[in-house]
Amino acid sequence: MLRSRAGTRIRKRRKREDVIKYVVVGRAGGRRLIIKSHLNSHPSTTSTRHTTQRLDTTSPPRKMQRHLKETRGKRTTIRYIKHKLLPRSRPEFEPVYMMQSTMHAAVLNSGTQIPLLGLGTYKLRTYEELYKSISAALDAGYRAFDTAAAYGNEAQLGRVLRELLPKHGLKRSDVFLISKLGPEDHGPRAKEGCLRSLQQLGCEYIDLYLVHWPGVADLEPTDPLHAKYRSQSWAILEELYDSGKIKAIGVSNYTVSHLLELLGSCHVPPAVLQMECHPKLVQKQLREVCKEAGVHFQAYSSLGKGALLEDPEVKDLAGSRGRTPAQVLLRWAVQQGISVLPRSSQPQSVQENSRIFDFELSNKEMQRLSDLNCDTRYCTRDSTSIR
Ligand SMILES: NC(=O)c1ccc[n+]([C@@H]2O[C@H](COP(=O)([O-])OP(=O)(O)OC[C@H]3O[C@@H](n4cnc5c(N)ncnc54)[C@H](OP(=O)(O)O)[C@@H]3O)[C@@H](O)[C@H]2O)c1
Repeated sequence: MLRSRAGTRIRKRRKREDVIKYVVVGRAGGRRLIIKSHLNSHPSTTSTRHTTQRLDTTSPPRKMQRHLKETRGKRTTIRYIKHKLLPRSRPEFEPVYMMQSTMHAAVLNSGTQIPLLGLGTYKLRTYEELYKSISAALDAGYRAFDTAAAYGNEAQLGRVLRELLPKHGLKRSDVFLISKLGPEDHGPRAKEGCLRSLQQLGCEYIDLYLVHWPGVADLEPTDPLHAKYRSQSWAILEELYDSGKIKAIGVSNYTVSHLLELLGSCHVPPAVLQMECHPKLVQKQLREVCKEAGVHFQAYSSLGKGALLEDPEVKDLAGSRGRTPAQVLLRWAVQQGISVLPRSSQPQSVQENSRIFDFELSNKEMQRLSDLNCDTRYCTRDSTSIR
């Protein structure tokens, strides 16, 4: 229920317009394509209704658009997101995996949905810390959680979720779990690494599994083994994806050249690239390549590890909108379709960071934030030197 002044305005807008976004996700043989659509309310509403349909047509997008207009009524706006076929070697369309969630989400090229807001868990190591943050996050509507083998908290995160989900009337399938392959498990050890993550989390599947780092642990940046092991790791992730143990696969900290190398050789394209991104590091080129290739871009360290919350420009803009610095930084990302993973050990901040879907930044405000770009990294490790 929307009660704020902004909410009243939004409700009026929702009446005027429903937006259908759809994506071609598979091939059913010959030229017939299976299309998944989802009905989105206006982007600035607090909740989103998603419906997924399997519609066969021989001539998207025009025929598809006509069909959707007819079935949804005249006030419907239809936006064609992407026309991405799965590789030919995957002729069967996998059943659509839908989450029961009220969160805003993006559709991945795997056909699954990823919530635009997730909780980062780096440095939340103990049971108590995780319990406190995750409990607040579930209350606030978060349905995605980001961990990694390297964070050393997969087992505790799994335990906390097993305890908290039933208390919130939720099932495993209602949340989206992200984990990552550690750099020491690159190459021949990748399968072992992923199975260990599954076992630590205590899950039958992981929603998104990322190669955490383009390089192998303990090798010089120019060592040719990096490329060889990257390729081996990806082939293993593809096998695990085919087996259903991982619902989507992706990469993290890949530069444009790492990503192009992967896109040129893969059998299953990456669904997600997770990278540091915020107004001081807008990642223009990398995001363009992702968009072109149908790879969802996910930001980490959106708050600059807390440092951006003190930036005078960010504070000034937030003040003028009656929002907090964290909220405008997160809104800047999600308004561009970038998913975010803010981390906080404080329940109040976890809740604050979730209130980013009930307002919209103007083009001028978005530009003002983007103009802060100066290629500043708050994560000191830089993957650009990895060959
Ligand atoms: N793939 C990768 O290589 C990679 C690298 C880095 C991060 N990540 C992922 O991205 C997540 C987020 O990035 P991050 O942990 O680097 O940093 P971040 O989310 O940019 O910032 C976290 C910091 O901001 C503070 N904070 C959060 N919300 C706040 C609020 N509303 N008001 C005031 N302070 C607030 C937190 O302090 P309190 O705890 O005191 O609130 C914490 O110190 C990570 O947890 C991890 O899951 C991935």
